[in-house]
Parts: sequence; structure tokens; C-alpha cells
Amino acid sequence: MAEKWPWRPIVVLEESNFMTKRIRKAVFPVGGLGTRFLPATKAMPKEMLPVVDKPLIQYAVEEAAAAGIEEFIFVTGRAKQAIEDHFDVSFELEHMLKERGSDARLKDVRDVLPASGRVAYTRQGEALGLGHAVLCARELVGDEPFAVLLADDLFLSEKPCLQQLVEAHDRTDGNVVAVMDVPREQTDRYGILDVGTEEGDMVEVKGLVEKPSPEEAPSNLSIIGRYILRPEIFEFLAERRTGAGGEIQLTDAMARMIGDKPFHGVRVQGRRFDCGDKLGFFEANLAFALRRDDMAEGVRRILKDYAGS
Ligand code: G1P
Repeated sequence: MAEKWPWRPIVVLEESNFMTKRIRKAVFPVGGLGTRFLPATKAMPKEMLPVVDKPLIQYAVEEAAAAGIEEFIFVTGRAKQAIEDHFDVSFELEHMLKERGSDARLKDVRDVLPASGRVAYTRQGEALGLGHAVLCARELVGDEPFAVLLADDLFLSEKPCLQQLVEAHDRTDGNVVAVMDVPREQTDRYGILDVGTEEGDMVEVKGLVEKPSPEEAPSNLSIIGRYILRPEIFEFLAERRTGAGGEIQLTDAMARMIGDKPFHGVRVQGRRFDCGDKLGFFEANLAFALRRDDMAEGVRRILKDYAGS
């Protein structure tokens, strides 16, 4: 049986209770080609790859919902129809499960569905980079702070990763990004922080560089795929300046916002799996399976069998 929506909103307060604006909308850039997972991703979006029995994108959507997100904006591309179908009613399937009396399975497929009218899809058209994907959501986001979640980054944590950012945003009313230390030799895979003062889990962002070489990296503190951004980001993205890899980089546009409003990295608690990488994806499957009552024992047995080989 699939794991149920594990997280519920921890606090749901009225807007009037907040000094800062509530984060209501989340953008999910899902237009990437997923070339690292070919041939699996030839006809299937990489975001639909399952960790145990739930697609990566569903984990991200559930995390967002648990953090109070009400509107889900997907920036898609070609061959991504399966994502739209996944978050929609499947009459035939529901009918069949009902006939068979598979109540638990029926609940699993129904629990996937965000409320009607709360999901929007827009096409990126050309794959011009993460910054371009976020820019495509401009009209749907409007003039309010919003979250961005990259489904490749999967978290296992007591408090959902995005919730940790929402709480940080409530304290600062600025831009906040999830950060973690990475090995120095991996800085060229990430957006890297130039670190200012640190207080508790909050790190002041003095600068940001996308994918610097280990020699040039200002630190080894990297951005992990969760962001809360102010809407001014769209003005910088709209200039469509290209950066690392010839792409329109979200990191570059964020760097240009530093100094205007507070900008912090949040050292998030929990374990992060890089599911854009085969080993990271494999490890995520292992870690999530070991948490399942119906699987843990079997997985441990398999691990023991293979331990010597
Ligand atoms: C993207 C961002 C990068 C960030 C990373 C986190 O890179 O551009 O700044 O550190 O996600 O996973 P990508 O993985 O798309 O190359």
C-alpha cells in the first residue's frame, strides 16, 4: 500500500495573523529532458520516476501542500502529459477499484488530487534553463512571494523542507533558499553561496554563483532545490541574461536581488537525496523502503544477502 500524504499543514493561519505575506503558490519546473535517466525517460517524464511506489513529483506536491501551498503551478514541456494525468481523476481506474472493493488503493489514487482549479500548467516551449522555466510562471504567480520546488531533490525530514523555509520567510520577509554543505569537489553541480553572518540555521547570503569550479567557489554551501522568492525576481529573469552553460539561470537572477531585501540560506534539517543522479535515486529508494512497515524487513534481508558481494 502506498504511503499516505505523510504531512499535514503544521500551521494554517489567516493572512491577518502574519506580518509577512503567506506563501500560497508553488512553481514546479518539470520541463527538463531527463537525459541522465535515458532510456527510462524516453517516453516518460523523469519526475514520474517512482521512489518505492510514488512518483518524485508527488513527493514534492505533498511537501508543498503540507507547507500550506494552495496553488500548484507546473512548468512543463513536451512528453509531460503523464504529470497532468497523474494529478487528475481517473474514472476508469476508480471505477475498477471500487468494483473490486480495493478501498485502500482507491484512497491512494484519490489522495493524489489537489483541489479542483488549484493546479495550473504552462509550457516552457524551449528548454532555456531553470530561470527561464520560473519566468514562464510569471503571470500565474503574479505579485506575491512564491515557492519553487525541484522534484529531483527529495527530502526525508521530520519537518517538511519547504515548511522550514516558510517559517524562515515568516521571520525575514525576504528571499530564502534551502542550503546544505556539499563536498568541495562537487561545487560545480550547484548554486553556491558567498556566506555572510550566520545565526542559528540562518545564513546571510552575500553572493551567489552558479556551478563554480571548486577553486573558484566562495564556499561549499550549496543551494538545494527549494526556494521562496519575492516577485521582483521576474524583472531580472525577464532580461533573459544567460549564464553558466549558456542557460538563463535562476541563481544569477537571485544574485541580482541581494542587498534589496533580506536574503538568507536556511540550513535545512533532514536528509536530501539527489534523485537526478542514479546513485542518489537508488539510495532514496532504499531509504524510503526501509521506512515502510510492509517492506523494511524484506529490504534488510536483501541488503544482508548482497552485503558480501
Ligand atoms: C539547479 C540549480 C542549482 C541548484 C540545484 C539544486 O541545478 O541551478 O543552483 O543548486 O538545482 O539541485 P540543476 O540540478 O538543475 O543543474
